[in-house]
Amino acid sequence: MSIHIEAKPGEIADFVLLPGDPLRAKHIAENQFENAVCYNNVRGMLGYTGYYKGRRVSVQGTGMGLPSHMIYVNELIADYGVKTLIRVGTCGGIREDIKLRDIVMGLSASTDSAIIGRTFQGMTFAPTASFRLALKAYENAKAIGLTLKAGNILSSDLFYHDTENGDSYAIWRRYGTLAVEMESAGLYLLAASHNVEALSILTVSDHLLTGEHVSAEDRQSNFMHMSELALSLAV
Ligand code: HPA
Repeated sequence: MSIHIEAKPGEIADFVLLPGDPLRAKHIAENQFENAVCYNNVRGMLGYTGYYKGRRVSVQGTGMGLPSHMIYVNELIADYGVKTLIRVGTCGGIREDIKLRDIVMGLSASTDSAIIGRTFQGMTFAPTASFRLALKAYENAKAIGLTLKAGNILSSDLFYHDTENGDSYAIWRRYGTLAVEMESAGLYLLAASHNVEALSILTVSDHLLTGEHVSAEDRQSNFMHMSELALSLAV
């Protein structure tokens, strides 16, 4: 048992999917796992272990934002020995060539959060995905006919940006950043610190240039494709 996870030692697999929404974790466990068992309900942040194509896997909700996400990731790695962590989430498109429902893989995750600068005493660090997982995701996506857009993403501390000083995404767009979400830089930072493997796979649920967003049903089915791809990395 850790501070935020009530699982007993051995109840969590070494491969874990990480949706922000705990109900998404429940949905993945109930629809894509066999023999799913719930191991965590502390703060309603549901976690399950089960099997996918014979491989033991877990799924753990993390909440939104780097601080919440990093609490769960830290405990999964340090207290439960997790070795592979795949974030499955949503993101906002910030470029014209990134469309609603696209699947984006974060090869790197820049951030406006103070967490990196604080860890590196003011110097910068480039939070980077596992190349092995990124390559496998790219190959598996191709094999199942999913188009994956890969590149830098922005992990922001803010969902609602103040627009007083203009478009806060403009500088990120100019430097080729594909999309914005709120967790991956923290995930990649912790993975580097503990020498484990991590990758973020995201579907574009809204667009910051056009203001469009996907419907709830659309979100669900897009999410299933993405979690199927994420689970394919376990086998
Ligand atoms: N901003 C930040 N995180 C997000 C967004 C967004 O627009 N959409 C989905 N996650």
